[in-house]
Amino acid sequence: MDIKSRKTAPVGVFDSGVGGLTVAREIMRQLPNENIVYFGDTARVPYGSKSRNNIIRFSRQIVHFLQTKDVKAIVIACNTASALALDTIQEEIDIPIMGVIVPGARAAVRETRNGIIGVAGTEATIRSETYTKVIRSLRPDAKVIGQPCPLFVPLVEEGFAKHPITEEVIDIYLSSMKATDIDTMILGCTHYPLLRSRIIAYFGEKVHIVNPAYETAMDLKKVLEEQGILNDAGQPARYDFYVSDTAEKFTEFANSILPYDVAATRQINIEEY
Ligand code: DGL
Repeated sequence: MDIKSRKTAPVGVFDSGVGGLTVAREIMRQLPNENIVYFGDTARVPYGSKSRNNIIRFSRQIVHFLQTKDVKAIVIACNTASALALDTIQEEIDIPIMGVIVPGARAAVRETRNGIIGVAGTEATIRSETYTKVIRSLRPDAKVIGQPCPLFVPLVEEGFAKHPITEEVIDIYLSSMKATDIDTMILGCTHYPLLRSRIIAYFGEKVHIVNPAYETAMDLKKVLEEQGILNDAGQPARYDFYVSDTAEKFTEFANSILPYDVAATRQINIEEY
Protein backbone atom coordinates (compact mmCIF):
# COMPACT_ATOMS: atom_id res chain seq x y z
CA MET A 1 0.00 0.00 0.00
CA ASP A 2 1.43 3.45 -0.87
CA ILE A 3 1.77 6.08 1.84
CA LYS A 4 -1.30 8.06 0.68
CA SER A 5 -3.57 5.01 0.92
CA ARG A 6 -2.01 4.05 4.24
CA LYS A 7 -2.92 7.47 5.63
CA THR A 8 -6.56 7.17 4.67
CA ALA A 9 -6.81 3.48 5.65
CA PRO A 10 -8.98 2.87 8.73
CA VAL A 11 -7.88 2.10 12.27
CA GLY A 12 -9.23 -1.23 13.56
CA VAL A 13 -10.70 -1.16 17.08
CA PHE A 14 -12.06 -4.21 18.87
CA ASP A 15 -13.57 -5.45 22.11
CA SER A 16 -15.65 -8.36 23.35
CA GLY A 17 -18.75 -6.17 23.00
CA VAL A 18 -19.86 -2.59 23.51
CA GLY A 19 -17.14 -1.62 26.03
CA GLY A 20 -14.61 -0.71 23.35
CA LEU A 21 -16.98 1.99 22.14
CA THR A 22 -15.72 4.05 25.09
CA VAL A 23 -12.28 3.93 23.46
CA ALA A 24 -13.65 4.45 19.92
CA ARG A 25 -15.52 7.51 21.25
CA GLU A 26 -12.27 8.99 22.53
CA ILE A 27 -10.45 8.26 19.23
CA MET A 28 -13.30 9.98 17.35
CA ARG A 29 -12.93 13.00 19.65
CA GLN A 30 -9.13 13.30 19.53
CA LEU A 31 -8.55 12.09 15.96
CA PRO A 32 -11.63 13.27 14.05
CA ASN A 33 -10.09 12.51 10.63
CA GLU A 34 -9.42 8.84 11.29
CA ASN A 35 -11.68 6.24 9.71
CA ILE A 36 -12.55 3.41 12.10
CA VAL A 37 -13.60 -0.21 11.65
CA TYR A 38 -15.00 -1.42 14.98
CA PHE A 39 -15.61 -5.05 15.85
CA GLY A 40 -17.57 -6.16 18.95
CA ASP A 41 -17.45 -9.90 19.67
CA THR A 42 -21.00 -9.93 21.01
CA ALA A 43 -21.47 -13.67 20.39
CA ARG A 44 -18.59 -14.53 22.75
CA VAL A 45 -18.77 -11.80 25.42
CA PRO A 46 -17.68 -11.92 28.23
CA TYR A 47 -13.96 -12.49 27.71
CA GLY A 48 -13.19 -11.88 31.38
CA SER A 49 -14.12 -15.39 32.48
CA LYS A 50 -12.35 -17.17 29.58
CA SER A 51 -8.96 -18.87 29.45
CA ARG A 52 -5.83 -17.26 28.02
CA ASN A 53 -5.84 -19.67 25.06
CA ASN A 54 -9.35 -18.72 24.05
CA ILE A 55 -8.72 -15.01 24.49
CA ILE A 56 -5.69 -15.32 22.19
CA ARG A 57 -7.67 -17.37 19.66
CA PHE A 58 -10.55 -14.86 19.62
CA SER A 59 -8.19 -11.89 19.34
CA ARG A 60 -6.25 -13.53 16.51
CA GLN A 61 -9.46 -14.17 14.54
CA ILE A 62 -10.55 -10.56 15.02
CA VAL A 63 -7.16 -9.24 13.92
CA HIS A 64 -7.40 -11.42 10.78
CA PHE A 65 -10.88 -10.04 10.10
CA LEU A 66 -9.71 -6.43 10.58
CA GLN A 67 -6.79 -7.05 8.23
CA THR A 68 -9.29 -7.95 5.50
CA LYS A 69 -10.48 -4.33 5.89
CA ASP A 70 -6.91 -3.10 5.24
CA VAL A 71 -6.55 -1.40 8.60
CA LYS A 72 -3.31 0.55 9.09
CA ALA A 73 -3.20 0.05 12.87
CA ILE A 74 -5.17 -1.82 15.54
CA VAL A 75 -6.30 -0.72 19.00
CA ILE A 76 -7.27 -3.55 21.34
CA ALA A 77 -10.02 -1.64 23.14
CA CYS A 78 -10.35 -4.43 25.69
CA ASN A 79 -8.25 -4.76 28.84
CA THR A 80 -8.68 -8.53 28.97
CA ALA A 81 -7.36 -9.05 25.44
CA SER A 82 -4.66 -6.41 26.03
CA ALA A 83 -3.53 -8.27 29.16
CA LEU A 84 -3.54 -11.76 27.66
CA ALA A 85 -3.17 -11.53 23.90
CA LEU A 86 -1.35 -8.32 22.93
CA ASP A 87 2.20 -9.69 23.33
CA THR A 88 1.45 -12.78 21.24
CA ILE A 89 -0.41 -10.96 18.46
CA GLN A 90 2.19 -8.18 18.27
CA GLU A 91 4.72 -10.74 17.07
CA GLU A 92 2.41 -12.06 14.38
CA ILE A 93 1.55 -8.91 12.43
CA ASP A 94 3.47 -6.11 10.78
CA ILE A 95 1.19 -3.14 11.49
CA PRO A 96 1.15 -1.18 14.79
CA ILE A 97 -1.08 -2.76 17.43
CA MET A 98 -1.63 -1.35 20.89
CA GLY A 99 -3.64 -2.09 23.99
CA VAL A 100 -5.19 -0.03 26.79
CA ILE A 101 -3.16 -1.25 29.78
CA VAL A 102 0.13 0.60 29.29
CA PRO A 103 -1.68 3.93 28.68
CA GLY A 104 -3.96 3.33 31.71
CA ALA A 105 -1.08 2.38 34.00
CA ARG A 106 0.94 5.40 32.88
CA ALA A 107 -1.97 7.78 33.57
CA ALA A 108 -2.48 6.29 37.04
CA VAL A 109 1.22 6.56 37.93
CA ARG A 110 1.13 10.20 36.87
CA GLU A 111 -1.96 10.92 39.00
CA THR A 112 -1.17 9.09 42.22
CA ARG A 113 0.50 10.92 45.08
CA ASN A 114 0.79 8.14 47.66
CA GLY A 115 1.51 5.35 45.13
CA ILE A 116 -1.48 3.24 46.21
CA ILE A 117 -3.50 2.41 43.10
CA GLY A 118 -6.70 0.41 42.76
CA VAL A 119 -7.52 -1.54 39.61
CA ALA A 120 -11.04 -2.77 38.86
CA GLY A 121 -11.18 -5.23 35.97
CA THR A 122 -12.36 -8.60 34.76
CA GLU A 123 -11.25 -11.81 36.48
CA ALA A 124 -8.79 -12.59 33.68
CA THR A 125 -7.26 -9.09 33.72
CA ILE A 126 -6.79 -9.02 37.50
CA ARG A 127 -5.48 -12.61 37.59
CA SER A 128 -2.89 -11.81 34.91
CA GLU A 129 -1.44 -9.05 37.15
CA THR A 130 -0.51 -7.16 33.99
CA TYR A 131 -1.51 -3.81 35.50
CA THR A 132 0.61 -4.53 38.59
CA LYS A 133 3.65 -5.39 36.44
CA VAL A 134 3.33 -2.33 34.21
CA ILE A 135 2.65 0.04 37.14
CA ARG A 136 5.66 -1.34 39.07
CA SER A 137 7.89 -0.95 36.01
CA LEU A 138 7.01 2.74 36.07
CA ARG A 139 6.99 3.21 39.85
CA PRO A 140 8.68 0.32 41.69
CA ASP A 141 7.36 1.29 45.14
CA ALA A 142 3.71 1.40 43.99
CA LYS A 143 1.14 -0.72 45.78
CA VAL A 144 -1.55 -2.11 43.49
CA ILE A 145 -4.88 -3.41 44.78
CA GLY A 146 -6.81 -5.36 42.15
CA GLN A 147 -10.49 -6.22 42.29
CA PRO A 148 -12.39 -8.37 39.78
CA CYS A 149 -15.92 -7.04 39.14
CA PRO A 150 -17.42 -9.65 36.76
CA LEU A 151 -21.04 -8.49 37.03
CA PHE A 152 -20.25 -4.99 35.79
CA VAL A 153 -20.00 -6.23 32.17
CA PRO A 154 -23.49 -7.81 31.94
CA LEU A 155 -24.98 -4.84 33.82
CA VAL A 156 -23.55 -2.49 31.19
CA GLU A 157 -24.42 -4.77 28.26
CA GLU A 158 -28.02 -4.95 29.54
CA GLY A 159 -28.27 -1.17 29.82
CA PHE A 160 -28.45 -1.26 33.64
CA ALA A 161 -25.88 1.53 34.20
CA LYS A 162 -28.48 3.73 35.91
CA HIS A 163 -30.47 0.93 37.58
CA PRO A 164 -30.54 0.94 41.42
CA ILE A 165 -29.21 -2.64 41.53
CA THR A 166 -25.92 -1.41 40.04
CA GLU A 167 -25.33 0.69 43.15
CA GLU A 168 -25.54 -2.44 45.26
CA VAL A 169 -23.17 -4.39 43.00
CA ILE A 170 -20.65 -1.51 43.08
CA ASP A 171 -20.74 -1.63 46.87
CA ILE A 172 -20.30 -5.44 46.99
CA TYR A 173 -17.23 -5.35 44.74
CA LEU A 174 -15.58 -2.10 45.76
CA SER A 175 -16.23 -1.68 49.49
CA SER A 176 -12.98 -3.37 50.51
CA MET A 177 -11.00 -1.21 48.05
CA LYS A 178 -12.79 1.87 49.37
CA ALA A 179 -11.58 1.00 52.87
CA THR A 180 -7.92 1.15 51.76
CA ASP A 181 -5.78 4.25 51.20
CA ILE A 182 -5.93 4.23 47.39
CA ASP A 183 -5.88 7.73 45.93
CA THR A 184 -6.22 6.58 42.30
CA MET A 185 -8.37 3.89 40.71
CA ILE A 186 -8.14 2.55 37.16
CA LEU A 187 -11.28 1.56 35.30
CA GLY A 188 -9.45 -1.52 34.01
CA CYS A 189 -12.21 -2.76 31.72
CA THR A 190 -13.52 -0.73 28.82
CA HIS A 191 -17.10 -1.39 29.89
CA TYR A 192 -16.59 0.35 33.24
CA PRO A 193 -16.37 3.97 32.00
CA LEU A 194 -20.08 3.53 31.30
CA LEU A 195 -20.47 3.29 35.11
CA ARG A 196 -17.98 6.10 35.70
CA SER A 197 -20.32 8.65 37.30
CA ARG A 198 -21.66 5.98 39.69
CA ILE A 199 -18.11 4.92 40.63
CA ILE A 200 -16.96 8.53 41.08
CA ALA A 201 -19.95 9.17 43.36
CA TYR A 202 -19.16 5.97 45.30
CA PHE A 203 -15.50 6.85 45.99
CA GLY A 204 -15.98 10.59 46.44
CA GLU A 205 -13.36 13.25 45.78
CA LYS A 206 -10.45 11.54 47.53
CA VAL A 207 -9.95 9.02 44.73
CA HIS A 208 -8.97 10.01 41.20
CA ILE A 209 -10.68 7.73 38.66
CA VAL A 210 -8.62 6.92 35.53
CA ASN A 211 -10.25 5.99 32.24
CA PRO A 212 -7.41 4.59 30.05
CA ALA A 213 -9.32 5.54 26.86
CA TYR A 214 -8.07 9.13 26.92
CA GLU A 215 -4.38 8.19 27.10
CA THR A 216 -4.89 5.36 24.57
CA ALA A 217 -6.19 7.77 21.93
CA MET A 218 -3.18 10.03 22.61
CA ASP A 219 -0.83 7.06 22.16
CA LEU A 220 -2.53 6.13 18.90
CA LYS A 221 -2.02 9.66 17.61
CA LYS A 222 1.66 9.47 18.52
CA VAL A 223 2.15 6.11 16.78
CA LEU A 224 0.38 7.28 13.61
CA GLU A 225 2.46 10.46 13.59
CA GLU A 226 5.71 8.57 14.10
CA GLN A 227 4.86 6.25 11.21
CA GLY A 228 3.79 9.19 9.02
CA ILE A 229 0.31 7.69 8.56
CA LEU A 230 -1.93 10.14 10.42
CA ASN A 231 -4.93 10.86 8.17
CA ASP A 232 -4.66 14.43 6.96
CA ALA A 233 -7.03 14.05 4.01
CA GLY A 234 -9.61 16.34 5.62
CA GLN A 235 -12.57 14.17 4.52
CA PRO A 236 -15.35 13.44 7.04
CA ALA A 237 -14.37 10.23 8.82
CA ARG A 238 -16.14 6.99 8.04
CA TYR A 239 -17.10 4.58 10.83
CA ASP A 240 -18.04 0.94 10.19
CA PHE A 241 -19.34 -1.39 12.87
CA TYR A 242 -19.29 -5.19 12.87
CA VAL A 243 -20.45 -7.69 15.47
CA SER A 244 -20.55 -11.48 15.80
CA ASP A 245 -24.16 -11.62 17.09
CA THR A 246 -27.37 -9.74 16.29
CA ALA A 247 -26.74 -6.22 15.09
CA GLU A 248 -29.82 -4.31 16.28
CA LYS A 249 -29.07 -4.28 19.99
CA PHE A 250 -25.51 -3.18 19.35
CA THR A 251 -26.61 -0.36 17.01
CA GLU A 252 -29.06 0.91 19.63
CA PHE A 253 -26.35 0.85 22.29
CA ALA A 254 -23.78 2.53 20.05
CA ASN A 255 -26.28 5.28 19.29
CA SER A 256 -26.82 5.89 22.98
CA ILE A 257 -23.15 6.56 23.68
CA LEU A 258 -21.54 7.85 20.46
CA PRO A 259 -21.78 11.47 19.34
CA TYR A 260 -22.56 10.19 15.86
CA ASP A 261 -25.48 8.43 14.26
CA VAL A 262 -24.73 4.71 13.73
CA ALA A 263 -27.02 3.80 10.86
CA ALA A 264 -26.20 0.11 10.64
CA THR A 265 -24.04 -2.60 12.12
CA ARG A 266 -23.13 -5.71 10.15
CA GLN A 267 -23.07 -9.21 11.60
CA ILE A 268 -20.26 -11.53 10.50
CA ASN A 269 -19.21 -15.07 11.33
CA ILE A 270 -15.94 -14.48 13.17
CA GLU A 271 -15.17 -18.21 13.33
CA GLU A 272 -14.39 -18.05 9.60
CA TYR A 273 -11.27 -15.93 10.21
N1 DGL B 1 -14.38 -4.79 27.88
C1 DGL B 1 -13.46 -5.81 28.14
C2 DGL B 1 -12.28 -5.38 28.97
O1 DGL B 1 -11.88 -4.25 28.84
C3 DGL B 1 -13.94 -7.20 28.41
C4 DGL B 1 -15.14 -7.44 29.19
C5 DGL B 1 -15.49 -8.89 29.08
O2 DGL B 1 -15.80 -9.32 27.96
O3 DGL B 1 -15.43 -9.61 30.09
O4 DGL B 1 -11.71 -6.13 29.72
